[in-house]
Amino acid sequence: MIVHVFDSAKSASQAAAAMFAAAILKKPDAVLGLATGSTPIETYRQLVKWHKEGMLDFSRSTSFNLDEYVGLGADHPCGYRYFMQENLFDHINMRETFVPNGLAPNLKAEAKRYDRMIEKAGGIDIQFLGLGNNGHIGFNEPSDRFHYGTQVVELTRSTIEANRRFFESEDQVPRQAISLGTGGIMNARQIVLAAFGKGKAQAVKKMIKGDVDPQVQASILKLHPNAVILLDQEAASLL
Ligand code: F6R
Repeated sequence: MIVHVFDSAKSASQAAAAMFAAAILKKPDAVLGLATGSTPIETYRQLVKWHKEGMLDFSRSTSFNLDEYVGLGADHPCGYRYFMQENLFDHINMRETFVPNGLAPNLKAEAKRYDRMIEKAGGIDIQFLGLGNNGHIGFNEPSDRFHYGTQVVELTRSTIEANRRFFESEDQVPRQAISLGTGGIMNARQIVLAAFGKGKAQAVKKMIKGDVDPQVQASILKLHPNAVILLDQEAASLL
């Protein structure tokens, strides 16, 4: 695990964008693993800028998002498909983009289908991750074990509270999501995790300094051969 601490979240985000740009330049048909939430927004802005300036071409790349809320369709403004269209996909020329279908009538089958599609695409070359306040990656919440494949997950109180800011009221926050498993994330050939702000400092400390522990799902990234952690000063303040 390589840890970089930057003066600002903006510089860290640009570093993440640089890693994605390098991956695509080296392998134009790269398979990108993408995240939603506040953390990747500036990275996506930078990728869009480079694309508009003619530096980055996504036309041979494919992307798979980490997760989607159960019950929210592609046109729901709080859903992750919608987020990705707004912040990235509508502004670039990605060949194909995949987000789990939170409206699938059989969610278990949808989870299996998603894993099969990633496998068929050749696996994820580079995976972007944010970090939950509780140490989650994707929506793999603290647990007594690490989850392997894509699955339907029950969101914990702390995640519901953290994500409440995107919804009008807390009871509108879905209680379930469909998420790539921690094992699926570990299968990515390269991982780029970014975390910003004081609220992440405790989880960052546990991820980097603590034992590998499923109560802090991100702690398993210590075992990944190619994981880069990008932090701002506040997120790194307890290291
Ligand atoms: C989002 C995801 C989550 C977030 C995490 C941090 O697709 O899987 O793990 O990355 O909850 O969220 P933000 O970036 O909003 O602090």
